[in-house]
Formats: sequence, C-alpha cells, structure tokens
Amino acid sequence: MSSKKKDNVSANFPRGRLAFFVTSNVHKFNEARRVLSEYKLATAMLKIKAAEIQDDSLENIAKASATNAVKNCGLPIIVEDAGLFVEALNGFPGPYSSYVYRTIGTRGILKLMENVDKRDAYFQSVVAFSSPEEAPKCFHGKAKGKISREERGSLGFGFDPIFESSGGGSRTFAEMATTEKNEHSHRAEALRKFAKWYTCGSKRRF
Ligand code: IMP
Repeated sequence: MSSKKKDNVSANFPRGRLAFFVTSNVHKFNEARRVLSEYKLATAMLKIKAAEIQDDSLENIAKASATNAVKNCGLPIIVEDAGLFVEALNGFPGPYSSYVYRTIGTRGILKLMENVDKRDAYFQSVVAFSSPEEAPKCFHGKAKGKISREERGSLGFGFDPIFESSGGGSRTFAEMATTEKNEHSHRAEALRKFAKWYTCGSKRRF
C-alpha cells in the first residue's frame, strides 16, 4: 500500500469511537475492550507483528512498538507494554517480564522470594497511541500489591496468580473476574487515561 493511501485510511478513521489495539494477547484485549467501552469506544484487536525492542524503560519499548506498528498498518493504533516490579528484587523482572515469564515463570519468582518477608510489588503499564500523523503519546498506570506465598486462582494470565492487588484484599488478580481486575489494574488505569484524551481530543478535532 502506498503511504498516500495509508494516510487516507487514517484520515477517514472514526476517531474517538474506535481504537485498534495491536496485541496478540487475548486477555489484554478482553480487559481493554471492557475498559474502553466505558467511554463508548469500540476496540478492535489487530494482530500484526510488532517488533519489541529490549530496553530498561517500558515507555521506550511501547513507543518503539507503536511506531513500528503504524509503519506496518498505516492506522491510528494503541499498543501496551507492562511489567511486574518486585521491590525486594530491585524491580526485577520489570521490563524483562515477558522473558522471565517464559523462562522461570511464576514458580521461578516464588522461588526467588522464598524466605523473603518484604513482598511488595507493583505492575506498571504504558499505553502508547500513535498514528501516521502523530508521534507516540504515552499513558501510564500502576497497580500496587504483594507477591503471594503460593499461586492462587485460575483467571487472567501471566503473573496474575502470584499478584495480590492492594485494592482486592488478599486475593490475587487470578482470583478476580476481568471486570474486577479492571477496577484495580495498571492496564485499566493507563487505558482510562488514554480513553479520556482520545474521546475528548476527537471532539476538539472533528
Ligand atoms: P508484555 O510485554 O506487556 O506483554 O508483558 C510482559 C509480561 O508481563 C507478560 O508476559 C506477562 O507475563 C506479564 N504481565 C503483563 N501484564 C500483566 C498482567 O496484567 N497480569 C499478569 N501478568 C502480566
């Protein structure tokens, strides 16, 4: 597709009413579509290959993924990058959460935390919006909690079974339905910030 044609697609886009979420994670998509619907925004899941860079900053990773995705599809899109930061492990795994999840997993984190009393941790999320006309703009969210002593719950994904959210008593994210996780989660907070900006920006611009 020529870049001129791509720009036309973007210009005709129903801005403020539809968001293309570039992700291959159906759990993230299901969380996002519920949050964005609170703002009357429909969400489409766009499964395109978005190369993910390695970096110490979630924001840099999200920005690079957004730029790359826009190059590939020529649409206004959002991407999201998240990580689990464990305070007793000096923020590990942080931006390397995906790799750590694939290698040592939740049990590996529990093993590293054996005999550790200080179990504070948090999830951080960065949602990056970008379009053919706009450089990436980032929205941040954070969920505080603790690393549990054992895995609990079967809902959600990733580190959900070992993360006790501060807002949810001593239950883990994996013991919460999506709507409840969305009341407390890092991703929901970042998405709500994005949705407020995106829906109000659309009134200003159109
Ligand atoms: P990603 O790079 O944003 O996909 O996230 C990196 C890793 O962090 C994922 O593989 C998950 O294991 C973990 N992660 C991110 N967000 C969440 C969440 O909301 N719950 C549990 N784990 C998460």
